[in-house]
Amino acid sequence: MRVVGLDLGGTKIAAGVFDGERLLSKVILPTPKEGGMAVVRALAEAARQAEAEAGEKGVAIGLGTPGPLDFRQGTIRFTPNIPGLVDFPIRKLLEEATGKPVHLENDANAAALAEHHLGAAKGERSSLFLTVSTGIGGGVVLEGRVLRGERGQGGELGHITLLPGGPVCGCGLEGCLEALAAGRALEREAAYAYHRPLSNQELFALFEEGDPKAQRILLQAARYVGLGLASLVKAFDPGAVVVGGGLALNAPEGYWDALQSAYRHYLAGWEVPPLRKARLGGEAGLLGAALTAYLEVRDGSG
Ligand code: BGC
Ligand code: NA
Ligand code: ZN
Repeated sequence: MRVVGLDLGGTKIAAGVFDGERLLSKVILPTPKEGGMAVVRALAEAARQAEAEAGEKGVAIGLGTPGPLDFRQGTIRFTPNIPGLVDFPIRKLLEEATGKPVHLENDANAAALAEHHLGAAKGERSSLFLTVSTGIGGGVVLEGRVLRGERGQGGELGHITLLPGGPVCGCGLEGCLEALAAGRALEREAAYAYHRPLSNQELFALFEEGDPKAQRILLQAARYVGLGLASLVKAFDPGAVVVGGGLALNAPEGYWDALQSAYRHYLAGWEVPPLRKARLGGEAGLLGAALTAYLEVRDGSG
């Protein structure tokens, strides 16, 4: 059996045909800035190109998308980092655009599933996953299954509140982990500190040169991630904690040292689950989206 995986991100869409073990193709398209219906068209186009490149068709589509989801209705409730997707009937629209059944999963839940079955948490019974990129997403896998919660907002770990009165988040609340430590947050802090826009890559380079402002900004963000994860360990006590996402995976080693030491600091005296780097890199979201559809079609669920 073949399925098509689609991973919708804040800046790009990834698509690939999946055979249950591997991706047979991979296509990347930009995420349309205007959001909304243009996103549906781009997703359908990416799926078409992925099938053309693989020379094979999928029986279903697995879509990983940011935002809490209403799994019964097949809608996105809202997305902090993509416009025009509020109460958006993505499943129905994408099924109409592609003629295939669409299986939804939150993007980070999907990545968590992939890391659990194929990556850094392979062999564990339960794992906790955090992706640090433009936003921060999470996923909790218990006994091999992703926790979706009663309302489709389980595993929204980027929006745990760490600093009451802190910076405003894309979700509208203040002081969320995402507002303190995601790519957008670092850009905001850097723009204040350097009086000009600065990319995350530029910030990393300054950090490596020992620039004190870059050190302060990045180490602070890393500590918030470590602190957040230590708190979450007390809720779930997973077999392993896995951290991925473009920002974290590209960050300097000093960032990881600060993250690990904050994590250990806030678990002092407790049993500490191993904290590992994600192993599937940027591919986790795409593999997880495909895996979601693959497992649901195979098991007749979803
Ligand atoms: C969204 C999550 C998503 C994460 C990563 C967050 O802002 O709330 O649903 O998983 O970004 O894309
Ligand atoms: Na999630
Ligand atoms: Zn938030």
